[in-house]
This record gives sequence, C-alpha cells and structure tokens, in this order.
Amino acid sequence: MSEKTTSKWNAGRFARTLAYFGVIPFVGSISWLQTLLGMGKKANASDRKQGVILVAGATGGVGKRVVRKLQERGYNVRGLVRDAKRAKEILGNAVELVEGDITIPETLTPAVFRDVTAVVCCTGTRVQPKEGDTPTREKYYQGIKFYMPEVVDVPEVVEYQGIENLVRATRTHFQGAGDEKMIFDFTKPSQDIKETWGALDDIVMGGVSESSIRLVDNTAFFSGNVSTANSGGFASVRTKNFDPPLNLAGYAGIDLRVKGDGKRYKFIIRSEVKWDGIGYSYSFDTVYNIWITVRIPFEALIPVFRAKTVKDGEPIDTSNISSFQLMLSKFEYDGELNPKFEAGIFQLQVESIKAYGAEKFPKFVHISSAGVTRPGRPGLNLEEEPPAVRMNDQLGGILTWKLRGEDSIRFSGIPYTIIRPCALTEEAGGKALIFEQGDNIRGKVSREDIAQLCVEALEESKACNVTFEVKESQNDQNSEEWESLFSGLKPDKQPW
Ligand SMILES: NC(=O)c1ccc[n+]([C@@H]2O[C@H](COP(=O)([O-])OP(=O)(O)OC[C@H]3O[C@@H](n4cnc5c(N)ncnc54)[C@H](OP(=O)(O)O)[C@@H]3O)[C@@H](O)[C@H]2O)c1
Repeated sequence: MSEKTTSKWNAGRFARTLAYFGVIPFVGSISWLQTLLGMGKKANASDRKQGVILVAGATGGVGKRVVRKLQERGYNVRGLVRDAKRAKEILGNAVELVEGDITIPETLTPAVFRDVTAVVCCTGTRVQPKEGDTPTREKYYQGIKFYMPEVVDVPEVVEYQGIENLVRATRTHFQGAGDEKMIFDFTKPSQDIKETWGALDDIVMGGVSESSIRLVDNTAFFSGNVSTANSGGFASVRTKNFDPPLNLAGYAGIDLRVKGDGKRYKFIIRSEVKWDGIGYSYSFDTVYNIWITVRIPFEALIPVFRAKTVKDGEPIDTSNISSFQLMLSKFEYDGELNPKFEAGIFQLQVESIKAYGAEKFPKFVHISSAGVTRPGRPGLNLEEEPPAVRMNDQLGGILTWKLRGEDSIRFSGIPYTIIRPCALTEEAGGKALIFEQGDNIRGKVSREDIAQLCVEALEESKACNVTFEVKESQNDQNSEEWESLFSGLKPDKQPW
C-alpha cells in the first residue's frame, strides 16, 4: 500500500474546500440547527415533561388519581375519556380532555396523540355489584362488604381488542421523545442540510482524492474516488461548524443509519471549532448494500490529531459539539492501515444521524391485574383466590382477556411497564409496597398507591419492559424507595 504515485494537484478545488469550511472568511451559521434541536436541552425528566402524557381511563378510580399526580409533578396531561361532560364533573376544568373509545379504533385519531410522549392506561371493563350500586359506587368498597360482581361490558372487547387498538394507535402516532434526538434526518432533505455538509479530501495535504455528498433517494450519498497518489489516501465530508455548538450532554452516543459498500469508514466528532484541532474518531465497518445502525458510544471515541491518537486526551465535551465528519481513509490510527481499504470508488449512504440516550424510559404504563395467569392453573386452591380468579368464567373470562391485552403490549416494541395490582381499595395511600413476579401473591393495595406507582414508573428506566404484581405491606409506611423496588424486578423475556 505504499503507493508513491504522483498526480496533478488541483489548486482551485483546494481553495473552494477552504472557503466552504470558513478557513478563508466565510459567514456560515446554521442557527436552524439550534431551532431543530432545542439547544442546551438534556435528555432528563424535565425534557420528557415537555410532551403530553395521555391517560386512558382518566375518569376511573385509578385514572383520576394518575391525572392529579402527574399534574402535581408538572406533566402536561390529556385524558382520553368516553364522555367529556361527565369527565369534567370528575376531573374539573384543569385537564385537557379528548373523547375516544379504545374499542372503536376510528376514535383514536392523530389529535388524541398530538405531542404525546407516554401513555398511562387505566381502562377496565365495568364490573359492578349485582346489588348495592349506589351513587357512591360501593364497588370501590369491596372488602368492607362483598357484593356479587357482574360485568357490564364484554371483557374480550375492552381488555383485549381495546388494548390492542390503543397500542396500535400509540405505535402509529407516537412522538418518540426524550431518549433520542434526531440531528440529521436525510429522509427530509432541505436546503439547510445541503449547505451544511461539504467535501474535505486529501487535497488539503496535496492529494488527489475526490468526494461529494448529495441528497439522493432520501439519503445523504457520500461517494467518490479515493487515491493514494501524492501520499494521499483519504476522502471525507464534514459539516461546517455548528453555531452555536450542539449540546448533547445527557446522551450516550450517536446512532448512524447507513448503507455502505463493505468498507471501513470513520465518524469523527469535534468539540473545537479549530480547523485542524483534535477530532474524536470511531471506525466502523459497513455491510455491502445492507442498511445497518452503527451505534457510537461517546466513551468509545478515540481522540486523534491527524490520525495520530492523542495520548491522555480529554474525553469529548459532549455539551459542545462543533462538527461531524465522515471519512474513508487508508489509515486507521498511528500509521496502522485500514484493513478494509482499497483505493478507488466508494459509496456510503446515510439516512440519519441521531443522539441516543443513556437510558430508556417506559412509554406505555398499563394497569392489568394480579391473577391473570391463574385461571386454569393446575393445583390452584380456588377457595383462597380472589373473586376475579374464582369467577373468571362468569365474568366473561376477564382475566384471560387481560392477559391477552398484556401480550399486545409486550409484543408492541414500545417500552412498557405492566402493573398487576391485587384487590384495589379506596384506602389512603403511602403504604410500603411489595413487588413480585410469577403471579402468585394475594392481598390488597390502594388506588392511590397504584396511581403513584404509575407516575414513578414513567421516570424509572428500570421499570422498562417489566411485568409484576403489587400489594401493600401490612404494616410499613412507604419509604419511597422506588428505585430499589424497581431494581428487584427482572425484565420480561423478549417474546421473539
Ligand atoms: N377492582 C379491583 O380490585 C382490581 C384489581 C386489580 C386490577 N384492577 C384493574 O385496575 C384497572 C383500574 O381499576 P379502576 O378501579 O380504576 O377502574 P374503573 O374505576 O372501573 O375505571 C375504568 C376506566 O376505564 C374507562 N373505560 C372503560 N371502557 C373504556 C373504553 N372502551 N374506552 C375508553 N375508556 C374506557 C372508564 O371510562 P368511563 O368513565 O367512560 O366508564 C373508566 O375511566 C382496571 O383495569 C381494573 O380491572 C381492578
């Protein structure tokens, strides 16, 4: 590879390259990026509070408390209700309401999901006492006196088809927020994007490699011809300096969605505006003609100065990112050769460049029920089981359909928390809670504490993709150690 050919160097192209990147005076500001990114924001809880939390079943015993607690914590809340007039009587005027019925998919319109960043689902089949239903709705006081229950709606329709509809609509309309930030979306080409990226080849060092970046087929198409003549051997495209710089503090790294030619490329990030300063580099292999997502953790970036590693270099300042660069180079680092390098034509298509978050948070928090896996379980002592388990058949298979509804969520790909409470009460909250998995516990828990649990789950990355039962402890008061409660849970096995 120590090709020592000489070729005619192009002074005009050299000058154009320097002018493009502002090395010869050039006023290039990409303040549109500031608008696009909401500069200075981090992926923290307050970021997520900028969206809307949709509460389905907002008029219910748990739902109305979830609404209140979310609002107290500073979230924007939208209640999905079947009857807005009735909902206003229950929730007052301070909450935004939207009418919809989870069993009627056409009512789950884009307007329901506008700016929604997470859904808390507190819906349930109406179960009422066969006798004793008064305006104070004694059903909430089960446990003081037991009234024979009966279902009013069809559980298959509410607990399964309804949840399936809600999950599907959520997937369709979701504004994936909080955990990732789109930086360049080449599927939405614009003049700004076009003007931000420019070629930077080894011409700056006397070489003759030549590349370009064009917006083609909703991608950025980086292609060219790399030559080792005149001791050159790299082609690249780089952004102008971001002005002001990007603040990616709070994110864990960059995701590149690319389709290449099987060669090894570099992605280089700079936090200095200097033309020729330290870059933070990551080498990645492409797969010929296949779209892949390359995940680049910030901590895996290597500080380099002209392809030489900077010993004891500081880690990159992610709060102050000034430019990105994509490169095909003959060299890896410190004189090592790129093992996949071949002089000649190359091409790399990029669909998007995103920052990804360190943590994932649940986006669909769902209240199911303890006992959903118990109907028909061999060896079960029905005498000891709660009414819903004992009477599952008389109640239209309510638990069986709740389990099917849970499955819709587990298969959805949306980060979720599935909460299975034991018998719900109207008692005061603030009790210590016991979490279990395996669906074996019996007991009770207040609606107040379940509502609190829904709010906590939204802010706890360890609550992601877990299903668990919950009851209250007989004696203890809640010491609010939510994180340690969630830490004890095992994530569900992925269904695929
Ligand atoms: N009771 C217990 O001991 C117990 C134990 C474990 C789990 N759970 C479950 O916990 C959940 C919450 O219980 P809860 O006591 O808060 O229930 P709830 O008071 O009966 O509230 C149910 C909510 O779901 C709404 N809803 C019903 N069908 C709907 C539909 N088709 N479209 C939109 N919204 C619909 C209702 O709205 P409307 O106001 O329009 O009717 C109501 O807001 C339920 O799933 C329940 O089955 C209960």
